Amino acid sequence: MRNLELSSDTEFRFLTIDDIVTRGRTVFVRVDVNCPLDPSSKQIIDDTRIKMTRETLERLQDAKVIVGSHQGRPGDEDFTSLEGHARLLQKYVPQRVKFVEDTIGPEAARQIVNLKVGEVLVLDNLRLCSEENVSAPPDILAKTIMVQRLARLLDVYVNDAFATAHRLQASIVGLPRVVQAVAGKLMARELEAMKQAYYDPRRPSVYVIGGAKAEDKLPIIDNILKTGRADRVLVGGVVANTFLRASGVSFGEAENRRLEKAPDLLEKARAILAKYKEKIVLPRDLAILRDGKRVDVSLGQGIEGDPVRDIGKETSDEYAQIIKAAKTVVSSGPLGVFEEKQFDVGSRTVLEAMAGEDAFTVVGGGHMGSYASMLGIGQRLSHVSTAGGAMLTFLAGEELPGVRALVESAHREIAR
Ligand code: 3PG
Ligand code: MG
Repeated sequence: MRNLELSSDTEFRFLTIDDIVTRGRTVFVRVDVNCPLDPSSKQIIDDTRIKMTRETLERLQDAKVIVGSHQGRPGDEDFTSLEGHARLLQKYVPQRVKFVEDTIGPEAARQIVNLKVGEVLVLDNLRLCSEENVSAPPDILAKTIMVQRLARLLDVYVNDAFATAHRLQASIVGLPRVVQAVAGKLMARELEAMKQAYYDPRRPSVYVIGGAKAEDKLPIIDNILKTGRADRVLVGGVVANTFLRASGVSFGEAENRRLEKAPDLLEKARAILAKYKEKIVLPRDLAILRDGKRVDVSLGQGIEGDPVRDIGKETSDEYAQIIKAAKTVVSSGPLGVFEEKQFDVGSRTVLEAMAGEDAFTVVGGGHMGSYASMLGIGQRLSHVSTAGGAMLTFLAGEELPGVRALVESAHREIAR
């Protein structure tokens, strides 16, 4: 241990890999290389999260490194082995990368024990272990067979999976209770950007929230507005359609039913709108798919039955104006189906407006981050986060269990 001075920042008193000696030690690095996959070929479409592990792994060339991650969830189409991820990782790190088709069994243990300094061993998808799929308090997860088996083979645990820090899972909160735990480079960098956006937002502060998971995003929007961190929230995607439906807009029978699928969702949306009418900006027009073409329609012009694919052009321009006047802009979740070129107007306009500004700009959520890179404007944003849910959880003022585990480990270390 080189430096036991923790930062004065009370909520974030954890150690990082630069505070400890790793030479010759066996170090487990929890990363998040959960990537978007092509549904039919199962090939990785965007490997940004794999690339982003480089800084930490390069720093660990003096150690024996084990890499653990999840990919998808059991039962989902994107739940696959990490063999392909390991192959891609080899492109980015100087060490020799090996893959073992095992997680906590005898073959994994044998390969961990035989690992040499300067090698990286990628374990298979940690969610192949049933215990990794149980959400439970850290002290319970610390007692799982998974944690106990891995812990006895390790000297140090590094959490570099900021994008999974909102999950109460064995490899995120269980393992760091029994092995000395520190933050990786990416984790530290992500938290610095989040702290800047959260604790000291330059005003006006604008959030742009899109994406499909309205049931996740509504409570987060509520919390962000409650903490007073956002002056305006601009919405797009299914999130926007949910608010619009809650305020009486009809999308046609089938779509209305889909938007009402979670029983309290519209109720929740109405309550948020009632509380924060001035702060939430809803689309005034939408783009629909009609006869294979994009058609922009004003609300009230009737969108009965035509699938909504994007926010409209007028709305996009209005959002761009608001973003250009802001000093802090946080965006997560696409505003439309940007994979179809004619429906990328909302997402592209928002990203371009962000990139042109002398403001603190953060883009999160795998999709928007990838799209910013594809448009070639990633470099012109203050921070592109690898996280979606974890980022918004943090910015909504909630504690991240993965970060808490690092803080608690640091306190145990200091008390020793
Ligand atoms: C994500 O992409 O949100 C993280 O990798 C966490 O995955 P999860 O939502 O399946 O827990
Ligand atoms: Mg997720």
